[in-house]
Amino acid sequence: MKILSIETSCDDTCISILEAKGGITNTSFKVLANNTNSQIQIHIPYGGVYPVMAKREHNKNLPILLEASLKEAHLTPTPLLNKERGLGRGIDAIAVTYGPGLEMCLWEGIIFAKELAEKWNVPIIPVNHMEGHVFSVFGKNKGKFIIPKVKAPVLTLLVSGGHTQLVLTKKWMQYEIIGESVDDAVGEAFDKVARMLDLPYPGGPQISAIADIERVKGNQTLFSLPRPMLKSKDFNFSFAGLKTAVLYLIRKIGKLDEETKSKIALEFENAAIECLVYKTYKAIEKYKIKTLIVAGGVACNTHLQEEMKKFLGKKVKLFFPAKGLAGDNSLMIGIAGYLNYIKNKKKVPKPASIKATGSLRL
Ligand code: KG4
Ligand code: ZN
Repeated sequence: MKILSIETSCDDTCISILEAKGGITNTSFKVLANNTNSQIQIHIPYGGVYPVMAKREHNKNLPILLEASLKEAHLTPTPLLNKERGLGRGIDAIAVTYGPGLEMCLWEGIIFAKELAEKWNVPIIPVNHMEGHVFSVFGKNKGKFIIPKVKAPVLTLLVSGGHTQLVLTKKWMQYEIIGESVDDAVGEAFDKVARMLDLPYPGGPQISAIADIERVKGNQTLFSLPRPMLKSKDFNFSFAGLKTAVLYLIRKIGKLDEETKSKIALEFENAAIECLVYKTYKAIEKYKIKTLIVAGGVACNTHLQEEMKKFLGKKVKLFFPAKGLAGDNSLMIGIAGYLNYIKNKKKVPKPASIKATGSLRL
């Protein structure tokens, strides 16, 4: 079946079309279209996502992306015309993110999905954005891919701008959050520290880039920042204290030159990643984990990937998202949507009952 997926939970407007086949264990996909309209340039002057502006942009971008995606997939917006051309009825189902995220942005995607579903007489599959991130690691930007058989128990480290969670999966598509940040998400901490260092939004990649410059030079960091909750007996994280420690350090130093900024970034990144890797390691030991998935916007951080490989690569089978699929995208929503559709034996909720749920949990 052909599945159109929509993602508008934050500042990226995304539409994909996937051809999906198979059941819950032998699922394969072919990417027919995968389009993202990034709003980064629009939000840079505000130093972060400006929700009203993001909502307006989604509203403007969705019809444009739909037209481009249908064209790319060689489909028309008219089911009858698709049939005449031997393309089946065109789109068979629509998957849309309904949370978590910014509610006014989520609504834009949901309303758009409802209008299309009514026009085409197809079902809507509501998708949890975080479950999308989990499945993002199996996706490819182009061509065909299959969902591999993974050995349970599976642990997923979800690291994004709004989440830092360790999720245990004993049974396929069932999730138990065993630990999470008690304050800021790790991506949020990267973004806030970047702002303190006068680096543009989004700060994660900027911090990572200047930290890498120092790391490659082999320079040691001059500073020592805390690793909050590193030795706590649970699987929770805390990043607010680390962020505040950076603030105090900057105040103490006074004027920052470029090299000092890079050295602060290096120590901050080392501290944040050490916390993620250590707690993940502890959870792997305790739950005898066989497979580790690292997903979400921060999953593309090179230092995180290298440290995970170095410390955990021999213990577990590791999955990271392909380039371009760590951050928000609709391809992952299409994958999660199809798998849920199959799992629920093609039962879907009534469109009227689908509502944006900003604080939706896994
Ligand atoms: O998953 P995502 O695209 O959106 C949310 O659902 O939040 O994640 C965005 C977050 C931002 O905080 C961004 O700064 C962070 O991911 N990020 C990074 C890197 N690339 C993006 N953080 C650290 N290192 C990176 N290379
Ligand atoms: Zn996300």
